[in-house]
Amino acid sequence: MKRDIITDPNPILREPAQRVENFDMELQTLIDDMIETMRADNGVGLAAPQVGISRQILVCELESEEEPDGKNNEIFETFPLTVVCNPEIIHSSQKKCKIVEGCLSFPGLELVIERPESIVVRGQDRYGQPIEIKANKLFARVLQHEIDHLRSTLFTDHLREINVIVFAGGNFALKPLEYLANDQQYKISQIITTSQLSKSRGIETDNNQVKKLAQKLKIKVRELDSLYDDKTVAEIKTLKADLGIVVDFGLIIPQKVIDIFKYKIVNIHPSLLPKYRGSSPIQATILNGDRYAGVTLMQINEQMDAGPVISQYKVKLKGKETFPMLKDYLSDLGATIMLDALPYYISKEIQPKEQNHKRASYTKKIEKKDGEVKLSDEPITVERKIRAYQPWPGVFLESNSLRVVISAAHFDKEKRFIIDRVKPAGKNEMSYRDFINGYRTELTFGANIDIINAK
Ligand code: NI
Repeated sequence: MKRDIITDPNPILREPAQRVENFDMELQTLIDDMIETMRADNGVGLAAPQVGISRQILVCELESEEEPDGKNNEIFETFPLTVVCNPEIIHSSQKKCKIVEGCLSFPGLELVIERPESIVVRGQDRYGQPIEIKANKLFARVLQHEIDHLRSTLFTDHLREINVIVFAGGNFALKPLEYLANDQQYKISQIITTSQLSKSRGIETDNNQVKKLAQKLKIKVRELDSLYDDKTVAEIKTLKADLGIVVDFGLIIPQKVIDIFKYKIVNIHPSLLPKYRGSSPIQATILNGDRYAGVTLMQINEQMDAGPVISQYKVKLKGKETFPMLKDYLSDLGATIMLDALPYYISKEIQPKEQNHKRASYTKKIEKKDGEVKLSDEPITVERKIRAYQPWPGVFLESNSLRVVISAAHFDKEKRFIIDRVKPAGKNEMSYRDFINGYRTELTFGANIDIINAK
């Protein structure tokens, strides 16, 4: 019978388990239930306190599952169903390794934990016969984790916080920063932001959002204009950080800064690298009418957006996304894939993969003039620009000595281009209909589109 698993926090998980003395029928039933529960919840190990029984029993198993097509899935290491009562570790290797661990009592939590690579365990089997198990790698890992449970130790007790410095400037960094700050695996010792951002990118008119969030999270924040001078580099060194995270930053990070960090510096880039390196990948995705957008987690090097890829995620687009919408969405997605992948990156269970540099494409810094459209432009170009250039630089047209900002437009079901909102220079935003009535002029883009007839 499957039993309920106790999740943290619960005092029973903190109670040292009693030795098993009677190897009776009741014990056999309990062990069968534990095996059933572990399998039903796709666990690789379970200790009796996790089903509410404070006794020294553990079960574990890692089977390689056959896929329906007969191929093995990707589990490279397996161990058979093992039951140990009253286990004791009688030897641990000097050599330790870091592996990502989870626990059925902490659903969804994955932490990098360092433990001895191999161990020898002595105990009794389910019928009370003495056994001795030599275990390596994953098997050793699971046994140690379950024996911890019997000693009322939880894997979170082994947690060694990873000391992180975050380099962040624009609003795309807010979600990753917040997610990282709320994950107990990481401790952000400092946020480095740049005062140049508003000047260098144009899009972000207020770079204080990162500073405001830092204050709310009570994390020390520092503003810099360059990372090249030796004094700054020396000061960053004194923080003894393990990992750097850079998101929407705006300054070049020199190799001497990257090398300060044991795990280097990791970046979230909102494109499917090597596509769209550079400063405006989200706008490029919209302007080119791509069917897919994505985010890439990569280890940076000194070349722009050219570092090896840790993880990448692709999303299908509807073709209606505006820049602010897609940016928010990708920021959240980027934060999520960062937290998913970082433990495996730190434990070296994911090896970053070199990009295919031959396929690289580049985006440029967006300028005010990019927002200008002409009546000879195809409607599809104008419509994409309206979505890509929100909130800055916007889309504007000079027609009959009139300057008009086109703030909203769409294609109707018959694929006709419909302008919705405009703002003539010096006037408030108005509906396109009011504009036609007031200004006695129409904006007809491309060759074969007649807006009057479309009504
Ligand atoms: Ni556990």
